[in-house]
Amino acid sequence: MCGIVGFVGEEKAAPILIEGLRRLEYRGYDSAGIAVNGDGVTVVKEKGRIDNLQGRVDEINPQGTIGIGHTRWATHGAPDQINAHPHRSMNGIVTLVHNGIIENYMELKNDLIEKGYKFKSQTDTEVIAQLYDFLFDGDAITTLIKTAEKLEGSYAVAMLVKGYDDKVFAMKKDSPMIVGKGDGENYLASDIPAILPYTRDCYIVNDGEFIEISKNDIKIFDKDGNEKEVEIKTINLSIDAAEKSGYDYFMAKEIYEQPKAVMNTVFPLIKDGEIQLPFEFPESFKKNLNRIYVVACGSAYHIGITAKYIIEDMVRIPVMVDIASEFRYRNPIIGKDDLCIFVSQSGETADTLASLREAKVRGAFTMSIVNVPFSTIARESDGVIYTNAGAEIAVATTKAFSAQLSVIYVLSAYLAHEKGLMSDDEIKVFTSEILKLPEKIKTALDCDKITEELSKHIATKENMFFIGRGIDYPLCLEGSLKLKEISYIHCEGYGAGELKHGTISLIEPGTVIAAVATDDALYGKMVSNIKEVHARGAYVIAVVKEGTEGIEDVADEVIFVPKSSKYLMPSLTVIPLQLLAYHTTVEKGLDVDKPRNLAKSVTVE
Ligand code: AGP
Repeated sequence: MCGIVGFVGEEKAAPILIEGLRRLEYRGYDSAGIAVNGDGVTVVKEKGRIDNLQGRVDEINPQGTIGIGHTRWATHGAPDQINAHPHRSMNGIVTLVHNGIIENYMELKNDLIEKGYKFKSQTDTEVIAQLYDFLFDGDAITTLIKTAEKLEGSYAVAMLVKGYDDKVFAMKKDSPMIVGKGDGENYLASDIPAILPYTRDCYIVNDGEFIEISKNDIKIFDKDGNEKEVEIKTINLSIDAAEKSGYDYFMAKEIYEQPKAVMNTVFPLIKDGEIQLPFEFPESFKKNLNRIYVVACGSAYHIGITAKYIIEDMVRIPVMVDIASEFRYRNPIIGKDDLCIFVSQSGETADTLASLREAKVRGAFTMSIVNVPFSTIARESDGVIYTNAGAEIAVATTKAFSAQLSVIYVLSAYLAHEKGLMSDDEIKVFTSEILKLPEKIKTALDCDKITEELSKHIATKENMFFIGRGIDYPLCLEGSLKLKEISYIHCEGYGAGELKHGTISLIEPGTVIAAVATDDALYGKMVSNIKEVHARGAYVIAVVKEGTEGIEDVADEVIFVPKSSKYLMPSLTVIPLQLLAYHTTVEKGLDVDKPRNLAKSVTVE
């Protein structure tokens, strides 16, 4: 998704803006641009990577100390220089950048054309600029408020306004934005990594707030134009979280950070063998909690399916798992005795946020499992459990996924204990198993070498299947998504028992299949399924618990992972699946961290 930066200070703005955009590259983009206010506003924007923009900026060398910048992930109009941001209004009143989608932009555009406005681009963003221009009454903030009243959809907008040469203005609804407070300089950004090198003192902008920053001042206005108090929070994310720390890719670093991510996540939740959640469920839940929804997208959705297997078995409450983009439109049956859990690394995924809002309107208690502090989903949930995985930069999630799993384990045990299905002693045993996971994940990472070797074969393939049963099944979905989203190899995750209902027709000599088989109760059936595909010439890579006997007789390759409670095995089986995806992508010479067409945070529908 698009990234926005803004700067007001005494240093040249251009280098700071471009450095900030580089720290937002992981969000995915196809063009970039900046606008600098020095002796007049200079706009420089280019299609493609930020290096292209850097080249043009070096040639022009804009001197201003105030500016805005943008990386664009095309939604309306081709990813070209004309459609790149910033966009300047016809009369030069405003130059702005925008992240989000204006849903009524055509209606507004037609109206402005009738009023004589000429448009240069196909974007919805230029409509905001022309509308602001049309409504401009000499006061930047009142015009911003009037403009916002006309807009439908999502937006985070930063702008330079004629006559306000020492300020940057901004507003947001549904798309993320933060203000960074410096010493004699202030910043705007879509996300924390962009401002980390300069400050950790931030204000998280809320929907319906209007921002005015100068080098020594930050002002926040509400929709009535009243000034609000600026609550500065200190974000304790270290800069190294946004650096590679010696790894070739962020994804490699983040795979290896998983032991620490899991420990940092569960440690605050478990005290002396007891579980302490950071919020209270409604008292009524003790007797009346009758259904749980887990709603998310992508890998976070796979967390939901994993949670279903664990919670239903441990807590004996039905768990409905929904893809957020479906949940929000299917008129779900939700009431006050339902718990709705929203899982999101970024805390900004549009469909998940919309689903959260839908559930709240319908009276459910909402909790979220989120990695980015103070993100919108976190702030709008009734309760939030943070996965303290640190900034996750690679588009393909790994450490946040593992941290989310660990929260599900703790939550499941908590709910089982609340229902009297787990004794204090059983909780102590289970939580001690959870606290052993970081060490076991570290051991599981020892399969790095074998996965690197296997990747050379997988990289030659165009298709791959992942099959499993029980709690291994959602991990097959995750392994499939990891491999396909970064290596571009078509993959499918399948319930092993389902193969015979159609997909086995695709299995032919040389087809690569990863078979995940860690559930003792289903192991015999998995061996049968492996034999079925092996008989048709498949090349089978088995992922099993250490000590699993006889597997070498039926599979071509075997990856052993450490043993743990059956409920905790996902934290261990996911490691070889992540490493297979990583090494295969490196083998194919592709960009592991920034796969084509993808964004780290999907903040539009
Ligand atoms: C995961 O590797 C993908 N990048 C993607 O599926 C991601 O999980 C999904 O977009 C949800 O993002 P979120 O967790 O930030 O809401």
